[in-house]
Amino acid sequence: MSMIDVVTVGSTYEDILRKQAATVADIDEKIVRLTTAMIESLEIHKGIGLAGPQVNEQLRLFVTHAQDDIPRVFINPEIIMTSDDIVPYEEGCLSIPGVWADVMRPAEITIQAWNEKGRPFTIDAHGILARVIQHEYDHLRGRLFIDRIEEKKRERLMKVYLKNIG
Ligand code: NI
Repeated sequence: MSMIDVVTVGSTYEDILRKQAATVADIDEKIVRLTTAMIESLEIHKGIGLAGPQVNEQLRLFVTHAQDDIPRVFINPEIIMTSDDIVPYEEGCLSIPGVWADVMRPAEITIQAWNEKGRPFTIDAHGILARVIQHEYDHLRGRLFIDRIEEKKRERLMKVYLKNIG
């Protein structure tokens, strides 16, 4: 598969979506090429976030391009603060195309990471950016947004999804 292909649930490479991603040892040329391709992939697929495991790279990195925001690269990220207020927001995922569901998550977060230039940064995020960051962060731990919805609803959504791709 090419770097730009997105791993989907039910596809040959789906196991990587359930694995723990590994720390990026060096932010080198390969990582720059990978994250650049991932940002391009977001535009192609009209997504707002994409994590390493979704492009078959078991690495702790993700990219975001939320509405009204710039493209961002997060390498070896750590969410260091989450707000107490938990809010619903409808989420989808390029790895489970066509499935959408409301997910409850903290409204605001603080995250530390390194960018593609190897520089550490910290941002406080709210709104869509906080949402997409938490969704992508989950991908690095082998978690999908459907894990966070009620079981009956999940079973129903995934039954339809698997039938449609089958
Ligand atoms: Ni996703």
